[in-house]
Amino acid sequence: MPAMPRKIILDCDPGHDDAVAILLAAATPEIELLAITTVAGNQTLEKTTLNARRICTLAGITDVPIAAGAAGPLVRDLRVAPDIHGESGMDGPTFGEPTVPVSDRHAVDLIVELVRAHPGEVTLVPVGPLTNVAAALQRDPGLAALIPEIVFMGGSTGRGNTTPLAEFNVHDDPEAAQLVLDAGIPVTMVGLNLTHQARATEAVVERIAALGTPVGDAVRDLMTFFAAMYEQVFGLTDPPVHDPCAVARVARPELVRCEDVFLAVETEGRWTSGATVVDLHGVLGHAPNAKVATELDVDGFWELVVDALATYR
Ligand code: RIB
Ligand code: CA
Repeated sequence: MPAMPRKIILDCDPGHDDAVAILLAAATPEIELLAITTVAGNQTLEKTTLNARRICTLAGITDVPIAAGAAGPLVRDLRVAPDIHGESGMDGPTFGEPTVPVSDRHAVDLIVELVRAHPGEVTLVPVGPLTNVAAALQRDPGLAALIPEIVFMGGSTGRGNTTPLAEFNVHDDPEAAQLVLDAGIPVTMVGLNLTHQARATEAVVERIAALGTPVGDAVRDLMTFFAAMYEQVFGLTDPPVHDPCAVARVARPELVRCEDVFLAVETEGRWTSGATVVDLHGVLGHAPNAKVATELDVDGFWELVVDALATYR
């Protein structure tokens, strides 16, 4: 008897890799995607929300509400990433006018409503700055007891990608990330150290292009643009496809090995703000407060992603 699908809310800032996370979450049978909530991050809220609508329109995802959330971090100024995602936030493919609407509900209201409607059942999967999740916990502190897990893409056990030590999502809103950590909810961090194992190699992109569908073609074009920008900015070929790794951890936990660690977010360092401090060897003497993803079953991950993309006609 297959296990019941896990209910999730995907909070995202589309974003090339967010788009793949949406397509994976909506198609894989192990997940019931209750809602897509958007946040400013890779681009402004207006653009990330439009991009979520574009992807859902292209893929025919018409039964999942899209709700817009925070237009910027809790206390800091918004920093977007056109150098990686382009002016639209999802440069590369050409999208038609989206027909999937945006909800009139605010993302934070929808998160609170859905968690309270399904106490103990809704896993939050933030793959952008954690502003919406933090705001929901500020709005309704009792929510923390009703959320079984938060699996977020962000941070790193090693180097950053936005400053030498900080990863983009956590760097954009470190106060939100720390607030989420402090809420006492089981948290799993899927950081750059893991997502850089999920590289969109030529062979992977060829498998996606071979699908010969509008979704396959769009993801091919997304990855082509993403690859060009990663090469230009980081000198990296085969870009890491970050966000679907967090979805994969929820859908097929066996694909993403994790370790229990003490995790903290630096919110004050002059040079280190936004860094995730991961005590892999327990040298600080604090009890573990999070799981951190360390190893990806790369072949299994890409099989999961390509199989999900293949379900779209
Ligand atoms: O650092 C990578 C993360 O920042 C990904 O979620 C990407 O989409 C951007 O939001
Ligand atoms: Ca993202």
